[in-house]
Amino acid sequence: MSKLNTDALNKLRDGASGEFRNKKGYTHYILTCGGTACQSNKGVEIYEGLIAEAKKQGVGDKVQVIKTGCFGFCERGPIVKVLPDNSFYVDVKPEDAEEIISSQVKGGKEVDRLFYKNPDGSPVQKAAAHGDLPPIGFYQKQQRVVLRNCGIINPEVIEEYIANQGYIALQKSLFEWKPDDIINELKTSGLRGRGGAGFPTWMKWDATKKVANDIKYVVCNADEGDPGAYMDRSTIEGDPHSVIEAMTICGRAIGASQGFVYIRAEYPLAVHRLELALAQAKDYGLLGNDILGSGFNFDIEIRLGAGAFVCGEETALLRSLEGGRGMPTPKPPFPAVAGLWGKPTCINNVETLANIPAILVRGGAWFASMGTEKSKGTKVFALTGKINNSGLVEVPMGTTLREIIFEIGGGIKNGKKFKGVQTGGPSGGILTEKVLDTPIDYESLTQMGSMMGSGGMIVMDEDDCVVDVARFYMDFCVDESCGKCSPCRIGTTQILKILEKITHGNGDEADLIKLETIGKAMQKASLCALGGTAANPTLSTIRNFREEYMEHIHDHKCRAGKCKSLLSFTILEDKCKGCGMCAKNCPAACITGEKKKPYTIDQSKCVKCGECFKNCKFDAVVRA
Ligand SMILES: Cc1cc2nc3c(=O)[nH]c(=O)nc-3n(C[C@H](O)[C@H](O)[C@H](O)COP(=O)(O)O)c2cc1C
Ligand code: FES
Repeated sequence: MSKLNTDALNKLRDGASGEFRNKKGYTHYILTCGGTACQSNKGVEIYEGLIAEAKKQGVGDKVQVIKTGCFGFCERGPIVKVLPDNSFYVDVKPEDAEEIISSQVKGGKEVDRLFYKNPDGSPVQKAAAHGDLPPIGFYQKQQRVVLRNCGIINPEVIEEYIANQGYIALQKSLFEWKPDDIINELKTSGLRGRGGAGFPTWMKWDATKKVANDIKYVVCNADEGDPGAYMDRSTIEGDPHSVIEAMTICGRAIGASQGFVYIRAEYPLAVHRLELALAQAKDYGLLGNDILGSGFNFDIEIRLGAGAFVCGEETALLRSLEGGRGMPTPKPPFPAVAGLWGKPTCINNVETLANIPAILVRGGAWFASMGTEKSKGTKVFALTGKINNSGLVEVPMGTTLREIIFEIGGGIKNGKKFKGVQTGGPSGGILTEKVLDTPIDYESLTQMGSMMGSGGMIVMDEDDCVVDVARFYMDFCVDESCGKCSPCRIGTTQILKILEKITHGNGDEADLIKLETIGKAMQKASLCALGGTAANPTLSTIRNFREEYMEHIHDHKCRAGKCKSLLSFTILEDKCKGCGMCAKNCPAACITGEKKKPYTIDQSKCVKCGECFKNCKFDAVVRA
């Protein structure tokens, strides 16, 4: 590859645009999901199988098989899409490769059995065009800005990004706009940080720009430590150039010539695609010295994090990037003033950055036309838990939780009852049915006692115990607290001990007051937001589900059956047929009896795993 100037880039884009793939004379393009979820579900075998089948059936030169980023609908992955028919196939298996090639590529007939079927069994119609979302309930209320290229382009081929309006925003930023114009466009857009705090992006860029210093840095926060969140990973896996382009624009706007992507080492696929993308951008002269002949220099390096939650906090991240221990430092000074190695540093989240090229191409006003009064644009949520359609969901801000959970998510698994939804990870809280119709944005989520956080959304049903969930998050925070400040170090440990006491049936009502007192003290006195928000799941569950805490405390009962110490299993003599299935499945060998006579459980040996309950066909085992 030779270095491009802006005319050469335009030519490359014009030549590539839209029909980039068709130039090669293929009749079919098969897009296979190359996201982590689909890859771990035989996605690679499907991809390789399709290539092998095409060759075997003599159409190797007619079909191009392409690995894309995540399609979003991970619940029904691996996903395969065939162009130009726009056939959207779900739950594809490696053995389906043969029929996709023989029936569709050779015979012109789609493989109907692989189409998504609506819950009522009716087949789903196809999207009108590549790029349109398929008319499946899961996609109906979605609008893809951040994920605009995921599932559309091959993230490993820079020309595909360029063909889809890639690097236009950079060209404008280098040749048409002054730094202030870029920042003003971001101001018009109303974009706020997607890493959790929701700080206006333009203000951060402006603040870093205004600090005089010869050396400044741009940092991309790809740490993504929230349990259940994977939108940043998928964005990098599916569209790494959008982040690279945005970081370079940021460098131009604030006057920096070096950027770093801080990404956790547990994301090998994202790291691999990012490395490839950086190398390609450098080869084309879109990174490095004299970018596109503009005289502007900017380079990006990757730094791997070891996977500590606190290293996502910006000041701790910067200490880790410097090679030190990832511990937060007090703010001010903010990174914009004194960040990496004491230099002005602009640090942004992956999703925030991925929005930026789209905003600069389509205009700030376009972005601001989506969302709510104070939260513009879209937000990507990682919808997981007891939900029918788990996956990545990008919706305009202001969409309600009910729309996300019951329309996009298709409701609760196995017809169970909705109990609550955890938003914002360990920093958020569990929201109840009462607020399902509230349009969600940064402010409304905080008002409801939770947080946007980075966008994890974990749905819970009647079989989840909220006290146990609060205990789980506090256990996570005890492990992840860096221990530097005592409110967080001691507070998290004390709250965990009390929650454990309650889940073991040894709590009393005074414990609830203690939990609230410690939680509030942590909110006020912790050094960073890890400690400042760690009590949120506990406080929100006490507020929203007080009666369940009371049941644990007074009745020694866990209605969800999750707190093992409060459980007992017994066999009803009159119902037991003596089939022995309970004893056969008991891992603790604590059930005894004779065939055709009632069996009994030795309570002193029972580990409360519930296998007897699950395996009894006669409802003779009762859980209390
Ligand atoms: C404990 C803790 C963990 C955090 N983890 C992340 C993270 O994984 N990714 C992220 O972008 N921001 C994370 N943040 C927020 C960052 O400190 C910072 O606000 C953000 O990266 C700024 O980018 P934005 O303005 O684009 O949101 C975390 C904050 C705290 C307190
Ligand atoms: S990883 Fe394939 S659809 Fe998400």
